[in-house]
Amino acid sequence: MKKFTELISDAVRDAFEKCGYSPKYGLVTLSDRPDLCQFQCNGALAAAKEYKKAPIAIASEITELLKTHTVFREISAVKPGFINITVDDGFITEYINSMASSHKFGCEEIGSNKTVIVDYGGPNVAKPLHVGHLRSAVIGESIKRIGRFLGYNMLGDVHLGDWGLQIGLIIAKLKRMSPDLVYFDESYNGEYPEEAPFTISELEEIYPAASSLSKADPEFMEEAKQATFLFQNGHRGYVALWKHILNVSIADLKKNYDALNVHFDLWKKESDVQPYIPQMIEDFKSKGLAYLSEGALVVDVMEASDTHEVPPCILVKSDGATLYSTTDLATIIERMELFSPDEIIYIVDKRQDLHFEQVFRCARKAGLVPPDTKLTFLGFGTMNGKDGKPFKTRDGGVMRLENLIREAYDKVYQRVAENREIPEEEAQEISRKVGLAALKYSDLSNQISKDYIFDVDRFTSSEGNTGPYILYTVVRIKSILGKYLSANPGYRAEDASVQPPGSDSERDLMLKITQFNGVVTDSYSSYAPHMICQYIFELSNEFNRFYHENRILTEQDPVKQGSWLKLITLTRDILTTCLDLLGIEVPDRM
Ligand code: ARG
Repeated sequence: MKKFTELISDAVRDAFEKCGYSPKYGLVTLSDRPDLCQFQCNGALAAAKEYKKAPIAIASEITELLKTHTVFREISAVKPGFINITVDDGFITEYINSMASSHKFGCEEIGSNKTVIVDYGGPNVAKPLHVGHLRSAVIGESIKRIGRFLGYNMLGDVHLGDWGLQIGLIIAKLKRMSPDLVYFDESYNGEYPEEAPFTISELEEIYPAASSLSKADPEFMEEAKQATFLFQNGHRGYVALWKHILNVSIADLKKNYDALNVHFDLWKKESDVQPYIPQMIEDFKSKGLAYLSEGALVVDVMEASDTHEVPPCILVKSDGATLYSTTDLATIIERMELFSPDEIIYIVDKRQDLHFEQVFRCARKAGLVPPDTKLTFLGFGTMNGKDGKPFKTRDGGVMRLENLIREAYDKVYQRVAENREIPEEEAQEISRKVGLAALKYSDLSNQISKDYIFDVDRFTSSEGNTGPYILYTVVRIKSILGKYLSANPGYRAEDASVQPPGSDSERDLMLKITQFNGVVTDSYSSYAPHMICQYIFELSNEFNRFYHENRILTEQDPVKQGSWLKLITLTRDILTTCLDLLGIEVPDRM
């Protein structure tokens, strides 16, 4: 379906054309002054310059022509040249009814199967997930879902970090702890055990211990670097240990992401692209793009228009090691080979923006992607504590994701458990869903690039612009419909149709519903899930106002009641759909 504002624009464009002006001036937008009118067109102001006429004169010509048009209830020219528009109730109603009977409520699948890879999550094996990983996971999942809803072939890739020093640190620490393990016996050439010599909880203790040891003890750091070099170059025992680390970690990561309702299509790893690197480096050299600088192999990526320094992209360090950028370049090659994506979107901490700038420029220079393939870096801001500094645990450590989730859960649980009618098991399930909704919504309702403050009391509150408030609204609608259905078991919303609004609150609710397809497409094209959050907050407000002003279940006029039930069914479905696009699940009651 065309966007509602597009339909109105069509009528106004037509009028501009009939009056001898370019139709481009007929663009209609939501009103800045909802107290005066629903929509507005500012085109007469711009047209005045081109046609050297007074804006109000043009605006008056247009409104004169459109006065009797069926789309408008009121259209007027206002000084200096605005066109204020209020549309006909029948026109709104017709649109709502077609939304209700259309696939995806009339939201068109503009993606036409274009392939888009979303690189998000980005955890590092063997390291516990921390709050920084939450943002990437939550934002990426949402963008993937919005794109998929719009008909793009979205592929979410977790892009595991499994190739760095963290592996060497663990191997070196293990060697110090248990030197007798068969993996460290250089003369051993039999099969290695299938069972890992550690559990996930042991692994999660080894890593931080190894990491702090490496800072205190330079000798240990050397051992870790050596171990990194050896496993990357095929040392049998170390490769076997690396595989154990991978298996144990991946199983745990899958569990954690599942619990977050975050699901990846691809579980690719940095190590998967290592085989592409030698050839890639040869190509960079033979194309004359890479040169030696102080022993390192680098590619210049500065551009004439740069106002800040963009250092060369390093492919190989002077000690022969490859880097994060080398791996990211090779990953682009692999992705092109396997999926020929039309776009790759990276959802990573914004402090990595220079890295991606270098990688993208390098990839373009070498022609690793065709010119029309988009490479998009979506850098997210930091989640801060109430002190405005990056969020930490009480003792100053990095907050583990699990504990963060637990904190939100506990807050919600306290409230849910007060309601003694809800059995314990259900109370837990509700708290899980609502707690996660609170976390995700507070993250997604901010612009991606902005830092925000983690305030568990505020975002678990059921009032204000929060996840729980939206969920309460959906649960309220479900409860009304549930009550109606148990008294009228044969009821089907499809059999009724929405009638023209009988009150302002009803009309406002309907108008808000009409914005759905526009909001979803805009939120995708601007990579902005917060637009969906803002929309469902406004939609919930409109619904709640309507609900407080009307007695739906006791309404005597069956046509009116049928219309209301259908309208709130549509409201529920749109809210649920939007929440699903944010990766948020709705409980049956709260
Ligand atoms: N593992 C990286 C980190 O923890 C994030 C990976 C992001 N994706 C990428 N293609 N570089 O910082």
